[in-house]
Amino acid sequence: MNPAPLNPLQSAAADHFNRCASAYADTHPLADTADLRRALPYLRPNAGQHLLDLACGAGHTGAFFGRLGLRISFADIAPAMLDQARARAAADGFPADFILAPAESLPFPDATFDHLACRVAAHHFSCPASFTMEAARLLKPGGCLLLIDGTVEDGHPIAEAWAHQVETLRDPSHGRLIRPSQWIHLTGHVGLPTIHHEIFPLQQPDLEWYFHTADTSPAHRETVRALVAGAPEDARQLFRITQTPEGKWTWWWQRLILVARKPGPST
Ligand SMILES: C[S@@+](CC[C@H](N)C(=O)[O-])C[C@H]1O[C@@H](n2cnc3c(N)ncnc32)[C@H](O)[C@@H]1O
Repeated sequence: MNPAPLNPLQSAAADHFNRCASAYADTHPLADTADLRRALPYLRPNAGQHLLDLACGAGHTGAFFGRLGLRISFADIAPAMLDQARARAAADGFPADFILAPAESLPFPDATFDHLACRVAAHHFSCPASFTMEAARLLKPGGCLLLIDGTVEDGHPIAEAWAHQVETLRDPSHGRLIRPSQWIHLTGHVGLPTIHHEIFPLQQPDLEWYFHTADTSPAHRETVRALVAGAPEDARQLFRITQTPEGKWTWWWQRLILVARKPGPST
């Protein structure tokens, strides 16, 4: 059976990440796996288990678990990103395979994986509910979903609207930052109760660098600079937006770490 054609948001993500793949190498902040280390006591992976690194990008997450002795399936919607993950896995030498597929509809049988990790990608998905349904279907009983993504904590609608506006202008493939309570609802609804969640802030080192990674258009750069300079108090406080004496804009994105477990005995 042929895979379903990509919808407009999926196509925008695939085009965008094919174009920007080279920016996700070892120097990218995603190469820092402190957030993954933080999740380990909840996930409790064992060597020999099988993990799906979904929306794997350049493969930093899968490589982290591959080095712990897990077998990794890497999946992504952008062939150029999968190429990066392939090169990383080959350099590290752990068992791995690579699948070009969207998170909303994955070509694996039910209960294939011991764990599923999806890091800093779900805000691009056209249908987060289809992704959580797929995660619940693909996990074995006792398996865990590790979801890490940008978020805005509950109770800050002004900061949330600001962050959404900035991200949509900066990166045309951005979908939506989802609040922690919404993720807990989405995963719980498909039978994956949350066993741990926390917000783990991540510094956005420099607005100009941030434009560069997303290849933001010159017109959108101008608008985002104005939005940052005039950020509402709620956003200013929540994201700790600061201008350095040299004029650089930095802030702290809120990153959600959530672990949800499929009920049943672990294998
Ligand atoms: C920031 S990168 C992911 C980083 C990676 N998970 C890591 O830990 O280094 C976002 C990735 O999501 C992928 N992506 C976006 N939308 C997708 C979708 N609907 N299905 C699968 N992959 C998607 C992009 O192609 C891109 O490689």
